[in-house]
Amino acid sequence: MAENLFIERLDAQEVHLPQIMEDLDFSIRSLFYHGMEQRLFDFFQIKPNMRILDLGCGTGFLTEWLYRTYPDHELEIVGVDLQEALLSKATERANAASFPIVYMRGDAHALSFADDSFDLIVSHTLIKWVEEPKRVLSEMYRVLKQDGLLCIGERILPPVFLSKDRIDQIVQRKTESMMNSIPHPQIALELPERMNQMGMREVDCIAFSVPTRMGKTGEALRNFESKIDTTGNREQVRLFIHQLLWASGRK
Ligand SMILES: C[S@@+](CC[C@H](N)C(=O)[O-])C[C@H]1O[C@@H](n2cnc3c(N)ncnc32)[C@H](O)[C@@H]1O
Repeated sequence: MAENLFIERLDAQEVHLPQIMEDLDFSIRSLFYHGMEQRLFDFFQIKPNMRILDLGCGTGFLTEWLYRTYPDHELEIVGVDLQEALLSKATERANAASFPIVYMRGDAHALSFADDSFDLIVSHTLIKWVEEPKRVLSEMYRVLKQDGLLCIGERILPPVFLSKDRIDQIVQRKTESMMNSIPHPQIALELPERMNQMGMREVDCIAFSVPTRMGKTGEALRNFESKIDTTGNREQVRLFIHQLLWASGRK
């Protein structure tokens, strides 16, 4: 198994697992603000009886959302991640909701699935953390069925901050350390080209801005949380913004 650079590097910045789990949930919820849900539905093109992989699924928020959105589609959904603790939380939640999602430990560099296994692969903010993005992309390609759709979501870094007060300095420091600790911080912008090079067809992108908060910056922003409305109030957008890009392509 590969090193989990995501966990290791956050840990080195004294952001430990309980905080990571909380931040992941917060961060991925931001995907569903501002009417983006419908755009993602359209983008993923989900049909009945699909076999779907969520690679680097973390605590399983997106994985569950796929199931919850199409409960009658008889989707077969598998979530894979390197980190047992995140998988346990994902499993616990799926069990509590009686969602038949299968979570398993695995390394995105060497997946245990046969060739041509999935109709749809989604992967949200994994690829910038892996040791070898090229190997991970070719594993995704290998396990994707002919005509299957691959959808990779990544942040465009560095993030954009619009606030004018003290937050600017806090966030500026955080941004520098974040850019230094992420193995492939700029990979989002290369994704469409990389997918084309891999031989994917119909490569397409959607990009949007989302409010977010991670780790120590989140702590530093605690005083501002009264202003931060997690239901997507535009006040928050003013404070702290990430650009998110989803690139998709057909095998
Ligand atoms: C930024 S988190 C995103 C988690 C989830 N997709 C989400 O959006 O909430 C990155 C995830 O990738 C996982 N990860 C890192 N390296 C991995 C690898 N080589 N194989 C599988 N998962 C990996 C981490 O454990 C972590 O859950």
